[in-house]
Amino acid sequence: MKAILLAILMGLTLLGGLAQAGDVEAGKAKSAACAACHGGEGISPTPIWPNLAGQKEQYLAAQIKAFRDGTRQNAQMAPMVANLSDEDIANLAAYYASLSCK
Ligand code: HEC
Repeated sequence: MKAILLAILMGLTLLGGLAQAGDVEAGKAKSAACAACHGGEGISPTPIWPNLAGQKEQYLAAQIKAFRDGTRQNAQMAPMVANLSDEDIANLAAYYASLSCK
């Protein structure tokens, strides 16, 4: 049932041109490179790296874009996101926003 709903939703998304809505599964697949610092479930293992789990989706996407575009500067983050497309970013944001911060 979930799969059918998802398929319908994806179809509507494509038809409606709402391609910016993030895909959680695709984001999860892309997140392997992020896990070393932000944790496998978005909870960072060290005090110097931020948790991402449960953060607001729009905020996450905006921050990742800012690192990519250089308006937010951080030597560790910049190379991690330099080659991400807007779609990758939307998916990553959806994935981390979907995780529980508890
Ligand atoms: C080498 C460690 C490292 C890796 C790998 C890494 N990050 Fe980060 N990330 C950081 C650090 C450090 C910061 C804090 C940057 C700052 O102080 O501005 C950060 C900040 C962020 C923030 C902003 C959080 C906030 O609350 O504002 C987001 C979003 C983020 N990272 C996403 C990602 C994503 C997505 C990936 C994988 C594509 C990734 N990071 C990979 C170290 C890393």
